[in-house]
Amino acid sequence: MNTPQHVAIIMDGNGRWAERRGQTRTTGHRKGVEAVREAVRSAGELGVKYLTLFAFSSENWRRPEDEVNDLMGLLKFFIRRDLAELHREKVRVRIIGDRRTLKPDILSLLTEAEDLTRANDALELIIAFNYGGRDDITRAARLLAAKAARGEIDPGSISEDSISSSMDTAGIPDPDLIIRTSGEQRISNFLIWQAAYSEFVFLECLWPDFNRAAFEDALREYGNRNRRFGSVAERDLALGS
Ligand code: IPE
Ligand code: IPE
Ligand code: MG
Repeated sequence: MNTPQHVAIIMDGNGRWAERRGQTRTTGHRKGVEAVREAVRSAGELGVKYLTLFAFSSENWRRPEDEVNDLMGLLKFFIRRDLAELHREKVRVRIIGDRRTLKPDILSLLTEAEDLTRANDALELIIAFNYGGRDDITRAARLLAAKAARGEIDPGSISEDSISSSMDTAGIPDPDLIIRTSGEQRISNFLIWQAAYSEFVFLECLWPDFNRAAFEDALREYGNRNRRFGSVAERDLALGS
């Protein structure tokens, strides 16, 4: 099977999962962490090299303060509880998103996770936290503009590659496959620049129900896609038509 090198997931539906059971949204987010563990394990087993998980968007600050605090708390809980095991499994952890507005305790945990696992090469786990695609592009633009203002680069030399390497995802290949759970079919400001040629698979299951079988379903669907990148299908090239 044609396995995608980089899978990115919009983990959606924790709230609905809980509401359907008459439970609080917090319970849904907690169950969501268990699904994260299963997704990381499955990615490694299925031969995926990069797994990006959308954990908190730059727009999620619009949620009630209690829920925002819950989500921050869960990230800390996940890193504290799972970092040693991730490291044992040779997972490299990377964080994308704007760090400037995060509290110092979260920031130092994120840095600790990145520093500890920097040399690992089994799977790269990229956690998108306080991440927004427009924000990523905006910060890259600011970086390049500042370099130009200092005379370090010529504005005319700015290329797609120099923009890509000024973004949080510098050095990470673009996602081949983007999965979104919960039945919603939108990108919600996820990797909008990097998703230019990604395949999308929308699953009906809610994030806490995501498991290895759902992951395999998505990979199977990806395997049936024909990626053309603006060219023509290989079959047509071979026929010379
Ligand atoms: C996804 O679940 C988790 C985050 C966005 C952090 P939601 O909390 O968005 O769940 P729904 O969409 O309300 O069901
Ligand atoms: C996207 O889900 C963000 C994450 C999964 C972290 P949302 O639930 O925030 O997206 P919208 O608001 O439904 O578009
Ligand atoms: Mg949602």
